[in-house]
Amino acid sequence: MLEISHRPLSEGDEDTTVYFVREKSRQPPACPDQEVADYLRSVWELDDFKGQAGRSVLYYRNSIGGAKTGERVIVVGLGKDKPTSELLREAGGLAVNVAMGTKAQRFKVALPEKFGGLSRGDLARALSEGLVLGSYRFAKYRNELDPEQDSGSIKAITIHAGDDRTVAVAIRQGLVAAQAVNSARDMINEPGNKWTPGHFVKAGRQLAEQHGLICQVFEEDALKNMGMGGIIGVSQGSSQPPALVVLKYRGKIAKAPTLLLVGKGLTFDSGGISLKPGAGMQDMKYDMSGGAVVLAVMQALAQLQPTGINVVGLVPAAENMVGPAALKPGDIINQFNGKSVEVVNTDAEGRLILADALAYGVKHYRPDAVIDIATLTGAVIIALGHHRTGLMSNDDALAQRLVAVGDRCGEPLWRLPLGKEYRQQLKSEVADLKNVGSDRAAGAITAACFLQEFVGKTPWAHLDIAGTAWDFTKKSYVPMGPSGVGVRLLLEMLLGWN
Ligand code: BES
Ligand code: ZN
Ligand code: ZN
Repeated sequence: MLEISHRPLSEGDEDTTVYFVREKSRQPPACPDQEVADYLRSVWELDDFKGQAGRSVLYYRNSIGGAKTGERVIVVGLGKDKPTSELLREAGGLAVNVAMGTKAQRFKVALPEKFGGLSRGDLARALSEGLVLGSYRFAKYRNELDPEQDSGSIKAITIHAGDDRTVAVAIRQGLVAAQAVNSARDMINEPGNKWTPGHFVKAGRQLAEQHGLICQVFEEDALKNMGMGGIIGVSQGSSQPPALVVLKYRGKIAKAPTLLLVGKGLTFDSGGISLKPGAGMQDMKYDMSGGAVVLAVMQALAQLQPTGINVVGLVPAAENMVGPAALKPGDIINQFNGKSVEVVNTDAEGRLILADALAYGVKHYRPDAVIDIATLTGAVIIALGHHRTGLMSNDDALAQRLVAVGDRCGEPLWRLPLGKEYRQQLKSEVADLKNVGSDRAAGAITAACFLQEFVGKTPWAHLDIAGTAWDFTKKSYVPMGPSGVGVRLLLEMLLGWN
């Protein structure tokens, strides 16, 4: 959908042109197109639009005197604050949303010549991300289209960038990353009856086939034989068999570091026998967001082919239901690494399936680092709301890198502590560990302490996206529903590994 063009902006048959303008003090915003600049001056004189960030004007070229009758022009403000890629992503998202409110079909974008200290590549990448992310809609199951809700009919976006190879490469990177986010959003949007653990298996195999990754699947019997008591236990109340999906990407360089990603693929979380309250339970179809993120990252890696890393993605997939065979409070299970767990609350199931996958991944692949991503606790929402992903880690360097990448890509993190005083809360009288603390205090941290038991000394970071996977901070490039957070974060982390 996104094309890169080297033609001058004045050529081409697009029906809409987008300009980005900076706000100036005591002057109208500048625009390379004289007709648009004149128009902006009159709007500025009325004090209606000065080029503020988050604001735009839609202008129709003068059909009487103008040469291009009826062409739309969208002018998006960039404000006067310090230029960042996040501002450009937001501006791209706004541009595409304004265009979608019209009958525009093909629009072209003028890449701003300069934006603070950002390189042309950074500029182009952020803008293309914003455009593609902002255009996302999920209408698959709506037969009756609602013009208020529905996107217009955009078929192509062209970025006019001049003849610049680094810009072309950057646009491709932005495009691949944003498309990966959108495929994660597609998976997450599927309801529980249309996206079961079996769908994770199918999606993993399909990705491998299309993009040349290696896919390995452990189904129910194999999981039993391997001693994955967490994945088996959580799914035993469901009619949907569980699975552990493994996807492998190998970079070309020999002896490249191996990084392990693990995503919670809980396709519906009813809470099990420790049943969740009815209100809002429908949101628990999103409890597989972490798994979707891992698949999407693998897809993007396969497309971008970085040479210096090997990446293994693991998705433990299960459904947490009530039934005659379901886990009961008080049951004791044995995880893959041999630890026994007293399941005090069947709703704390994410950590049980992640524990098996983490222990297996660490043992089998001996990774240089492991990152898990999961909608793990309601407690992280109490701590950080919907604006920051919770980060917990046993490795300061890894944690700091993740925080820095999160700031850059508009998916901010906040680190919470770990420690034996928290670990203490998981002591059981009858097993090695309980799956929940004795009270709700520091729930996000005790959940992470539980996971820590399964990674040994491997540098590890845990991302709790329960607050950010949906209802994320309102942004023009994050439409309603699942945000896809984690995809760009992990991708950027991996691409810049060294
Ligand atoms: N999937 C939930 C966590 C969650 C809650 C995600 C709200 C998104 C929004 C997880 O499996 C869960 O139920 N956690 C429990 C743990 C508790 C029983 C210790 C929780 O947070 O309430
Ligand atoms: Zn739960
Ligand atoms: Zn859950």
